[in-house]
Amino acid sequence: MIQLDDTNRVQHDFRVYDSSFMFWGVTMDRNLALEFVRITEAAALACSKWMGRGQEKQADQAAVDAMRTAFDSVRIKGEVVIGEGERDQAPMLYIGEKVGQPLAVDAPEVDIALDPLEGTTLCATGGVGAISVIAVAQKGHFLNAPDTYMDKIACGPLAKGAIDLDLSPTENIKNVALKLGKSVSEVTVVILDRPRHTTLINEVRELGARIHLISDGDVSACIAAGWSESGIDMLLGIGGAPEGVLSAAALRCLGGDFQGRLKYRNDQERQRAISMGLSDPDKKFKIEELAKGPVMFSATGVTDGPLLKGVKTLPNHKAMTQSLVMRSQTGTIRWIQTQHDFNQKRLP
Ligand code: FBP
Repeated sequence: MIQLDDTNRVQHDFRVYDSSFMFWGVTMDRNLALEFVRITEAAALACSKWMGRGQEKQADQAAVDAMRTAFDSVRIKGEVVIGEGERDQAPMLYIGEKVGQPLAVDAPEVDIALDPLEGTTLCATGGVGAISVIAVAQKGHFLNAPDTYMDKIACGPLAKGAIDLDLSPTENIKNVALKLGKSVSEVTVVILDRPRHTTLINEVRELGARIHLISDGDVSACIAAGWSESGIDMLLGIGGAPEGVLSAAALRCLGGDFQGRLKYRNDQERQRAISMGLSDPDKKFKIEELAKGPVMFSATGVTDGPLLKGVKTLPNHKAMTQSLVMRSQTGTIRWIQTQHDFNQKRLP
């Protein structure tokens, strides 16, 4: 049974609720989830100062710097597996970078998937749905996705099991409609607005389903697909592969479904995937193969989106953030609204 508490802010799933303080075999305070929120909050606050200013690099850098600093106070031995890129491309939060407190005794060893600013252009233009995001799992439990594209399909918990990347968009939409008890014309599909999706968009239009075209930010869109009240039923189309892993982590926590298949722009990218350990570079990955085992996920809104509100500046040097923090182990979903007072703490 799923219930909302008095404040409607925390959703508990009592089928899986576990009051233990164990986290992957290591005794640890569950407040760690709140430490992860502080990290995405810091990144969101930092890059939100660049909202609408047309300077993507500066916005991204501000988020990266703040996130990197915020990790230092968290008692984990973390390794970035989905990050800002390869070590030679990214000075910070690169793939393989150790974050947290590598020397702390008994700190859990975890893998981190992150995007300090998902939707860089959205932040730079003040568009819809830029977020700061991290996901945390046991070592080796995220797919080490190369920086290429991924064909994706996603839906929420009520349609779980109804999607299959090997089927056509028409078949998938019909299956999701059936599972949701909707007619096809009542199903809303979110698709990145890209020329590569012209055929897909035409097919969905001919079928008569509703389409929500987005200019960027398919992690935000996948989270929305995982939450029935968002009005988004599913996501279709090709986006970034690292974003696919982050989306799978979020949907694991939300109880939704996701499948992805890597899409290469050239043979070099395919070879890179093979050298990263993928024996079948054309494999269809199911959600548990992208993010397996217990997963924690935190996202903070940078600009207003379908689910999360963006950073709001308040009078007297204060700001408000809204975040979503989730654990797949317990199914608990928390919305955290935080007021930050920069008279008392430093701006990130
Ligand atoms: P960035 O935050 O790196 O700018 O990514 C935004 C994004 O829209 C992702 O959400 C999406 O997966 C990807 O870019 C799509 O890539 P492209 O813009 O090349 O179509």
